[in-house]
Amino acid sequence: KNEPLVMGIETSCDETGVGIVRGHELLADAIASSVDEHARFGGVVPEVASRAHLEAMVPTVQRALDDAGVTLADLDGIAVTAGPGLAGALMVGVGAAKAYSIATGVPIYGVNHLSAHIAVDTLENGPIPEPAIGLLVSGGHSTIMMVEDLAGKVTQLGASIDDAAGEAFDKVARLLGLPFPGGPYIDRAAKEGDRAYVDFPRGLSAAKDQEKHRYDFSFSGLKTAVARWIEARRADGEDVPVNDVAAAFQEAVCDVLTRKAILAAKEHGVETVLLGGGVAANSRLRALATERAEAAGLVLRYPRPKLCTDNGAMVAALGSHLVAAGVAPSVIDFPANSSMD
Ligand code: KG4
Ligand code: ZN
Repeated sequence: KNEPLVMGIETSCDETGVGIVRGHELLADAIASSVDEHARFGGVVPEVASRAHLEAMVPTVQRALDDAGVTLADLDGIAVTAGPGLAGALMVGVGAAKAYSIATGVPIYGVNHLSAHIAVDTLENGPIPEPAIGLLVSGGHSTIMMVEDLAGKVTQLGASIDDAAGEAFDKVARLLGLPFPGGPYIDRAAKEGDRAYVDFPRGLSAAKDQEKHRYDFSFSGLKTAVARWIEARRADGEDVPVNDVAAAFQEAVCDVLTRKAILAAKEHGVETVLLGGGVAANSRLRALATERAEAAGLVLRYPRPKLCTDNGAMVAALGSHLVAAGVAPSVIDFPANSSMD
């Protein structure tokens, strides 16, 4: 087959990911994570993440090549996350990708992490119909993206004005005494809880917010509301019903995320909505988005949970799309850009 064979390298946060794809076919998805080293701090420590990337980089590339049964010389492209993300962490991946590119002569593509979260869906569901709306929700970002052209024109319609959705999951998990990262634990606890137990606030949903913040999110008020609710319970000497609070909090997040993403699709005449990012692994978000997309006559797509969280396959998927679209490679001195949008 002559579809492009591309290796993708991801180091924007705490996952050292190396993926290899041919066209839309996933051949390898090697990951080393430093999440356990951050757990005791309750959040990712940038310096620790950078060092872990440096240690894991070469062995993870080697493992991906072995899994895919290819060599560096076979590659048509090397894609790497150039931003957004933690500056020091990004530099490790970008530096490694440039070294591999220079040593082998394989063209390099510095890519956007958010576009890669969208592109990964091609590995599961094939080419993305354009235009599409992407709801990207992770520990670092909560954005509604307009995907006019995955190879060139991906723009933000809205974003969180404070905490990212995943950050809210992680902070509320901490309040409830659940481990880090808290998203999966809240997801699990919520399955045994009552979604209507407390009616927590839906940020930026008031009529007055519809002009300026129509497609934006806010989760810090929600986190504070949960904290206050828990404090009041404890002050009364009562136990906190963890499953119910988890379910009610999760409902508030998923309600506003799905409502705004579907509104964006309807108002822009777009028929396809994609979910991506770590929080897109959330079972309630998937169920509610499915329900609401169906009611609105929209097509909803999302990849399997393992491809929602950070990985190298998503970067390789975007790289393969760029090669196939005939996009020119990056010039070798491109920078890591922690605030890329
Ligand atoms: O995309 P990702 O792996 O890394 C970033 O780019 O941030 O997302 C990690 C985030 C964490 O906040 C984690 O708690 C959240 O995704 N997460 C979830 C679930 N699985 C991961 N949040 C809610 N429900 C889940 N099942
Ligand atoms: Zn991410």
